[in-house]
Amino acid sequence: MKVTVPGDKSLTQRALILASLAEGESRLSGLLYGGDAASTAAALRCLGAGIGVLPPDGSEVLVEGVGFTGLTASNRPLDLGNSGTGTRLLLGVLAGSGISATLTGDDSLRSRPMKRVTEPLTRMGARFEYAAEAGRLPLTVHGRRPLDALDWTTPIASAQVKSAILLAGLTGGASVHVQEPAQSRDHTERLFQSIGVPVQSGPVAGGWKVSLESPPDRIWPFDFAVPGDVSSAAFVLAFAVLGGAGDGIEVEQVGLNPTRTAFLEVLQRMGADVRVEPDTSAWGVEPVGRVSVGPVSLRGVEIGGAEVPRLIDELPLIAALGARAEGVTSITGAEELRAKESDRIAAMVENLRALGVRVEERPDGLDVEGSNQPLRGRVRTRGDHRIAMAFGVLGAIGSNDIEVDDRAAADVSFPGFWALLDRLAGARPRA
Ligand code: S3P
Repeated sequence: MKVTVPGDKSLTQRALILASLAEGESRLSGLLYGGDAASTAAALRCLGAGIGVLPPDGSEVLVEGVGFTGLTASNRPLDLGNSGTGTRLLLGVLAGSGISATLTGDDSLRSRPMKRVTEPLTRMGARFEYAAEAGRLPLTVHGRRPLDALDWTTPIASAQVKSAILLAGLTGGASVHVQEPAQSRDHTERLFQSIGVPVQSGPVAGGWKVSLESPPDRIWPFDFAVPGDVSSAAFVLAFAVLGGAGDGIEVEQVGLNPTRTAFLEVLQRMGADVRVEPDTSAWGVEPVGRVSVGPVSLRGVEIGGAEVPRLIDELPLIAALGARAEGVTSITGAEELRAKESDRIAAMVENLRALGVRVEERPDGLDVEGSNQPLRGRVRTRGDHRIAMAFGVLGAIGSNDIEVDDRAAADVSFPGFWALLDRLAGARPRA
């Protein structure tokens, strides 16, 4: 069966932000129609950008950008909902904007660490005030233009941190250099290059370095088509590998950025025959193509090291697959999972155990022992979309019976997930 998945969450938010900062009208298509995209779009509208209604079918949206100096202070707090990407990237934009804004979010977002971006942005000259706890939302950012140059080494491979600093350099007219321990997703760099912002990057001793030496004083409008989200595709591919979708599935028009596709390599290591067909006619800023996979018996794998940032969002799903693989699936070097929409290590451990799976928790990961026993019980998503979907996949397989306490959590990145799962399951040959 052929399927498509909603637009990429990371690219949707970056495209909306950059189009809002351009001088004139950009045309964007394939945008995610989901909670995180809606939150970021709403915040940008409050700051003065003209963003049309985001349509459920990904059809074209016009964005009237206001330029680096055209953002206007909002008299009410910007509510970023569940979106860590929207929050951290906007903090970068606002730091260099010369205006002040208050940002807040849902319970999950208000508990997430912001110091990783406020610290470098403070060094550049922005100021932050915290309403409740230092380093957490709600906070007020007081931007300054121009900002000071920055050469920053971050201990975490985080595209959100890197992008916040690059965006501050862009809006604040400051030269910036960011070094991370391993390369994180490079969507901001690709979009910058495509619109003429001269960013450079490459390996250095101890990691990966990105530099924006001479930011331009304006950017022009652009056209951009967002591909399907490979992190969303991962859930349907996993479902097919577990035998939930008959002979298998093909996910079309999906992003194949190599900083995002390590999950496909892991599926292969687990024994799946993953076929990737790049569609070079559709390539522009980002590689795009088709991924297909069929059912297979899985074996446990070890995950760790530099591949972790390339599959960070897929780790809950890999842990879930580990419950159905022969042997042990071991994830290490992933302490960042504790700072996501929920503590994803604790969430996976608690929920897998609730279903009778043997799991060992470590500070930086977990070991999951696979088995064939039916998985039955109730799981607590902690409001986290990827926890909900990981257990949605497991629960829709064979004789498993899993009640997911908050199915709506999936909507922030994958509206229509449950309906698609039902449709795929219906494709199973009748016994
Ligand atoms: C994202 C970066 C990752 C990822 C998140 C989206 C982005 O977070 O987990 O879902 O769009 O930049 P970190 O940068 O915190 O690792």
